[in-house]
Amino acid sequence: MGRLRNASFTVKVDAGSLQEFDQHSVRTDWITPDHAKRIPNHTMKFFIFLCLLATACSAGDLTGNWLLATPNGDGTTRRTYFKLQQRGDRITGTIRWTLHLFSITQSTGGPENFTITASMPIGPSERRVTYRGKLVGGELQVTEIKAQAPGPTMMAHRVPDAEGALPARIEPPALHPVHDNGLARTPPMGWNSWNKFANHIDDATVRGIADAMASNGMRDAGYVYVNIDDTWEGERDARGNIQPNRKFPNMKALADYVHSKGLKLGIYSSPGPNTCEGYEGSYGHEEQDARTYAAWGIDYLKYDWCGAFTIYKDSEMQAVYQKMGDALLASGRSIVYSLCQYGFEDVWKWGPSVGGNLWRTAGDISDSWESMSRIGFSQERLAPYARPGHWNDPDMLEIGNGHMSDTEYKTHMSLWSMLAAPLIAGNDVRAMSTSIHDILTNPEVIAIDQDKAGHQARRVWQSGQQEVWSRELADGDIAVAVFNRAPQVARVTFRWADAGIRKTPSRIRDLWRHNESKECGVEYSAEVPGHGVELLRIR
Ligand code: GLA
Repeated sequence: MGRLRNASFTVKVDAGSLQEFDQHSVRTDWITPDHAKRIPNHTMKFFIFLCLLATACSAGDLTGNWLLATPNGDGTTRRTYFKLQQRGDRITGTIRWTLHLFSITQSTGGPENFTITASMPIGPSERRVTYRGKLVGGELQVTEIKAQAPGPTMMAHRVPDAEGALPARIEPPALHPVHDNGLARTPPMGWNSWNKFANHIDDATVRGIADAMASNGMRDAGYVYVNIDDTWEGERDARGNIQPNRKFPNMKALADYVHSKGLKLGIYSSPGPNTCEGYEGSYGHEEQDARTYAAWGIDYLKYDWCGAFTIYKDSEMQAVYQKMGDALLASGRSIVYSLCQYGFEDVWKWGPSVGGNLWRTAGDISDSWESMSRIGFSQERLAPYARPGHWNDPDMLEIGNGHMSDTEYKTHMSLWSMLAAPLIAGNDVRAMSTSIHDILTNPEVIAIDQDKAGHQARRVWQSGQQEVWSRELADGDIAVAVFNRAPQVARVTFRWADAGIRKTPSRIRDLWRHNESKECGVEYSAEVPGHGVELLRIR
């Protein structure tokens, strides 16, 4: 009302823009005193009446662009834009959290109390969010409704309509083959922060992990990459150079430290403007970022599609990934290139040609038998695509994260090794039990994973929930894994010939018990615990 008091000369309501009314953004720079002199008195009165009416009607309206700014605690801010249209008791519009653009599909209630559900397609599936909210003193109070418990209640405020709009599209370059970087001749081994620490990763933790890996036998067992996942990113400086956020005060110094331990440092980014967690991505800065990584001493990049979803079509992934492949090569440093786009677009068919050393073949793993076994046992058809320098990546290990039994973690380790999968530990290696340590560092199992021939295992025999996988090794031995996917113990008996092994083995080595048997008949029979495995090396 204060604004309208001097309205007779200065108030301006953007003509024709109902949204401006709705946003209460009654601007004062449009009608100058000069204009006002020319406007007849009765017109002006009617105009003011309209202003008052519009303001009164829109007082409780949800329509507008609302920004929810949540500090991440590291100097960066998560921004969520609720772009709402209220028509009667119906609310439509979008919710944009980082580069996730959700469309509102359902709503109930109004300004006093509303619930909105929005979804966005992610490949063949979709992601949904639900918020409850109300208008409180001109601000929007919102609470995310989650399956477990509601999130915190937060206040969003009105911002100009254009704020938070998607950046302009940058055409990806025409497709061309990227040279092989000569790295990852065996599947990369190391550690990554995401599975255990998610957003709670910082410089001190990474140093602690590197210390542990250098002293607990992991490094010597082959785990050399120490990879920082999402949430290390800060803002760009005036020249557009990416800066780490407060949690990583000096990335070069951290790389030097990790290198001093005989380890290598990995980092994470996205081809989109933002990462999955809403941090700064490499969009439009690919070469610059690759140069920065090289200058810091980075040895591995995980490049996560996430933030690119709303800019590019899935079918453009190849060109977009190639752009960073080129940039890494041009940086002059040897940087392993890990593609993370969840196995869309048959990435195994083009991953090598965009410079990729490994590519995710599935969505995110979680620390459960269901998730691990669903992903691991579905990799069979991808076997032809694994080879030295280029690997299928069924995602990082969950071994030691606490929600599977040691038997199940042995199956996880055995299956990943049979698949010639990258072995990227995802637990807190500073504090792990002896049994978890021994599962992760079993040299005979790692030798299967790291076999130079790089043949990914095939399923060669199956009976119900029991199955046998095998892979040929460089020295002529054959690795055989006998899995029992059932929850209860099972006796598994099969003839070698039925598993594609034509000659009776002369020696069978058990890679978990570390013992050997020379009495090998035409068939193999063993009791395998529920969700367990027998991992054998046969000659
Ligand atoms: C995606 C990836 C995960 C992890 C997170 C980080 O979900 O698939 O592995 O990197 O992003 O935001």
